[in-house]
Amino acid sequence: MQENLPYTKALLETTKQNAREILEKNTCTVVYNGKTYRRTVPSMEYYKHQWNWDSATVAMGLVHINPQAAYDELRALIAGQWDNGMIAHVTYNPDENSYYPQAEKWRTDQFHHNGIKTSGITNPPVLAIGVEHVYRNSSNKEAADTFLAELLPATMKFHDYLKTFRDPEDQGLLTIIHSWESGTDNSPRWDPLYAHMNLEDIPENVKEDVNKNRVDDQVGNASHRPKRENYYHFMGLIDLYANWNWDYKKIVKESPFAAKDILLSAIWARANESLADLLEEKGDAENANKYRSWSDQTKKALANTWDEEYQQYVDRDVSQSRNEPIKEATIAMFLPLWAGAVTDEQLPKLMDRLSNPEEFWTDYPVASTAINDPKFEISRYWRGPTWPVINMFIVEGLMRYKDKDPRAKKLAEELIDKTLGMIIEHDFYEYYDPTNGHGAKFGQNTETQSFGFADFSWSSAVFIYLYEKYRKDIHQHESSQVNIPQQPQAFEYKTLEEK
Ligand code: GLC
Repeated sequence: MQENLPYTKALLETTKQNAREILEKNTCTVVYNGKTYRRTVPSMEYYKHQWNWDSATVAMGLVHINPQAAYDELRALIAGQWDNGMIAHVTYNPDENSYYPQAEKWRTDQFHHNGIKTSGITNPPVLAIGVEHVYRNSSNKEAADTFLAELLPATMKFHDYLKTFRDPEDQGLLTIIHSWESGTDNSPRWDPLYAHMNLEDIPENVKEDVNKNRVDDQVGNASHRPKRENYYHFMGLIDLYANWNWDYKKIVKESPFAAKDILLSAIWARANESLADLLEEKGDAENANKYRSWSDQTKKALANTWDEEYQQYVDRDVSQSRNEPIKEATIAMFLPLWAGAVTDEQLPKLMDRLSNPEEFWTDYPVASTAINDPKFEISRYWRGPTWPVINMFIVEGLMRYKDKDPRAKKLAEELIDKTLGMIIEHDFYEYYDPTNGHGAKFGQNTETQSFGFADFSWSSAVFIYLYEKYRKDIHQHESSQVNIPQQPQAFEYKTLEEK
């Protein structure tokens, strides 16, 4: 553990308090069919619905400040689960209409559970990891047990969906059918996939809809957002799948976009471990063994994606019977650390890449695309900026290897402090400039241009999580002299039942 913090305890506590306030501000109450749910939205500036992997991550921070809020977050997330087990990437707020695409664009009504409107795709299954973290960090064991009993069946069903429909070959890696499923929407990893889609073949009405109704590039900074042609592709796929009535067997086989994603598969392997551990503890050995074996299978499959020539794990384009490796230098290659999938031989090679300042280890790591890569763009979403959420996952990955490789430990410690520092200095943005840590750029006339949207939920939750887990118990001399803020009264809400 670090002995000297680069930031004062008081600053850390103040920033934690700010994070708490953002999470409180971003909490929405939604009523579906007379039942009340309470959960955060990623950002009030634009993303005003519930996002799957955002919520699972947010709960991992929330539990440290308000366990009840963490339970509510995940309860709301499973509320819209489809009969086939899928938990969609977006669960819509029926009272909000400003985000594009709106719920009706998906044409998924026939699958909605209790009328809860959702998208038709999923995203990285952090859920089980979130459930485990929330469960283990709850002080009230009775409440935690009730929460777990409610969450486990839905989480298992979600995993069963992923196995059945996204790994039909039973090889361990999951197939995604849209880059939004990867969580890294416009990463260079997906360029080869979208190259299969001719813009001329995308129906005119889809393109017109994008031209007329897309708003993210007006609410946010257009030069930071995915390009217009990206949106033609994003919406072209949605239109195609709706025409195929969301038949995932057909989609996985016939879509121009089908890829074995190493980031999502690594999270899947890690999530199966969480599920297996929880089930084992609850005495369900049979199911524990099932999810453990899925995790082991995926770890081996991930290790086998290692490409010696490119010195990285590679995604695979498996669309329409293709089987092509995707060799892009992005943060996805570091997620197998979190899965514990990295072999002794691969570990030093992966550390070389991660710690290279010419690639990923910039002043404010980890750049989402290597900075010496021709596809690197300093401010364009997943093509360069540093994302706190990915840093948190990489920290956890490095920590798995801390006893094996001193470099892994050193990088993890450094990454914790850099991430906390970046947020302390520049506030809670969606993503940051990897070279100077700015989340907001100061333009002419003192106008600020935000890097992504501001007051972002998972950046706030990541701050709380990293601070509470790794830096809270470090005492500094000065902490006795400085004024540590009092715990605020805010965010002290009662259970939904009590209200
Ligand atoms: C963007 C990100 C995605 C995230 C969502 C909400 O689409 O690419 O990862 O889940 O915003 O924050």
